[in-house]
Amino acid sequence: MGEAVLVDGVEIEPERATISLRDRSVLHGDSVFEVLRVYGGRVFALEEHLGRLQQSSRIVGRVFPCSVGKLAEEVHRALRASQLTEAHVRVLLTRGVGGDGLSREGVRGASRVVWVRPITPIAPAVYESGLRVCTIECGFEGLAAELCRAKTSNYMPRVVALARAREAGFDDAMLRDRDGLVWEATASNVFAVINGELFTPPLSGPVLAGITRRAVIDLARELSIVVREDVLTESRVHSADELFLSSTIRQLAPVVVVDEHEVGSGVPGPITTRLLAAFRRLAGDR
Ligand SMILES: Cc1ncc(COP(=O)(O)O)c(C=O)c1O
Repeated sequence: MGEAVLVDGVEIEPERATISLRDRSVLHGDSVFEVLRVYGGRVFALEEHLGRLQQSSRIVGRVFPCSVGKLAEEVHRALRASQLTEAHVRVLLTRGVGGDGLSREGVRGASRVVWVRPITPIAPAVYESGLRVCTIECGFEGLAAELCRAKTSNYMPRVVALARAREAGFDDAMLRDRDGLVWEATASNVFAVINGELFTPPLSGPVLAGITRRAVIDLARELSIVVREDVLTESRVHSADELFLSSTIRQLAPVVVVDEHEVGSGVPGPITTRLLAAFRRLAGDR
């Protein structure tokens, strides 16, 4: 109880669940995944997450291993086995063993893993006081930009960006391209409130189609907030009235400092707070 792992549909004791050292996921980060949350026993947006896993698979050029329905059934089965009602779920498609160096020729033995475990609570201070975030330039050109639309295990630029942000005394980093456009944070989508309107970068850019992002846009429209899927220039980010990051794990995390600028009055803003409350109601988070 408390944790469960299925590998290719077979339940395995979590301590015994391993991936081969030779798997390309380990060697090259050649795998795709999803992170989901369970609220009150219900998996939030399961279909959307599995749809995005299919999309990530297509982008990186791999065959999806089974039907979406079968994978959904495995998520439910793992959740039942864990007996958790509040949980973190990771669905991972490894790439298998073989190939010649980076080449995928001759690869075999890809696995699908469903891993359910307790959710690590986010510090309440994140929502009460907000985050301090810096901007860091990160390559967003050509293939690298295309791959931002897939959720792959290859997070190295973002891992290093987060480490550098932390070393500089910030909580997270927002990533900008060389023209100064901000696209995402290290593992979240980015929103800005400017003159009462909600801005977020468009999915035509180097942006993951966040499941939380989608829900926030829909909720904002229901609350009659104008939504603009438009680029976030550095000047928009630095002069925004409110800023927040969205992700499955952190939901909506207010940002109160960006680089050397205070955001609004330096506390989580009213639109962010309203949207966070609406999101929690939607997700069934009590
Ligand atoms: C790069 C990146 N962008 C955006 C997100 C937010 O996506 P979601 O709301 O589906 O969790 C994530 C989530 O981990 C991410 O890794």
